[in-house]
Amino acid sequence: MILLSIESSCDETAVAVTDGRRVLANIVSTQVAEHRLYGGVVPEIASRRHCEAISACYLKALKTAGITERQIEAVAVTFAPGLIGALLVGVNFAKGLALSLGVPLIPVHHLRSHIAANYLADETLTPPFLCLVVSGGNTLLCEVRDYTEFLILGQTGDDAAGECFDKTARAMGLAYPGGVTMDKIATTADPVRYPLPTPKPSTGSFDFSFSGLKTAVINLIHHAEQIGEPLDVPVLCATVRQKVCDILLENTMAALQKTGQTKLALAGGVSANSELRRRMEEACMKRGISLFVPPLCYCGDNAAMVGAQAYYEYKAGHVADASLNAYATMPIDFNKKDGGTP
Ligand code: KG4
Repeated sequence: MILLSIESSCDETAVAVTDGRRVLANIVSTQVAEHRLYGGVVPEIASRRHCEAISACYLKALKTAGITERQIEAVAVTFAPGLIGALLVGVNFAKGLALSLGVPLIPVHHLRSHIAANYLADETLTPPFLCLVVSGGNTLLCEVRDYTEFLILGQTGDDAAGECFDKTARAMGLAYPGGVTMDKIATTADPVRYPLPTPKPSTGSFDFSFSGLKTAVINLIHHAEQIGEPLDVPVLCATVRQKVCDILLENTMAALQKTGQTKLALAGGVSANSELRRRMEEACMKRGISLFVPPLCYCGDNAAMVGAQAYYEYKAGHVADASLNAYATMPIDFNKKDGGTP
């Protein structure tokens, strides 16, 4: 089934053509350089850039895939969660396209598509499995019971892992997106010297908390500035990275043990973190767990992963009509009660 998919939830305008789990075109136009000037994503700018880029991305995707408009069998789009103005650009483009071509419109949840990035990389991966979703705005641990059935085991009650990286990196004066920069700098040092907490919400739950760690790092930086003590940025980067990995690893390993799942997948932008990948690999190998990690090109926002998830949403009958709206927040298991579409 030839699917045309669109992603515009944050600062990447992306259009892809997929056929099941096969990628025929994956076009990504990133706005990172512009948002870097402000130290983070400016929502109004993001929406405007999506408007400017989306048509060109669409035409390039068709050309790269070597197909014509008439060969598109369905249109898929990220409808939630994300920046509302940014999401609306993709949703409205998708609605217009589906309507004009007379093909089904498939709404896709952003985090489900991050998980589906793993299907593109490994055709042997099938549910059930455990998944750690770590992105800029979300951190959650869920059981993927079927392609469109999710059970949330734990999630962050405050900041996401990516947010913790980005905001502490910003306080150190590092360029946006801080997680990437911090990962590079951290590899040049050992995580010693700086005492930082490893917050844990409450015993027995698989929830996460990152705001305490973020605040501790920011306080440490301000204190060093006040007393005129030079900051060892590489060491601090390595320490923050180690702490974030400790928190993610401990919860994930405990959830694997509790659920008895034998497969683990990582998803989202932070799954590109080199230390997280290394430590997860090591821990899974020790426990005989099969680990699935998306290749770097599918860790960040892209539309190929939207296509991969849309294929299964369509099979489950999850299609929308022209009344489809975009939502800034939406739980991954939004269809648990009624089984239907948004
Ligand atoms: O999944 P994503 O592209 O966007 C959302 O859907 O939120 O994730 C972006 C996040 C940013 O916080 C960025 O700093 C982080 O992923 N990130 C990383 C790395 N690469 C991207 N964090 C740590 N280490 C990396 N190598």
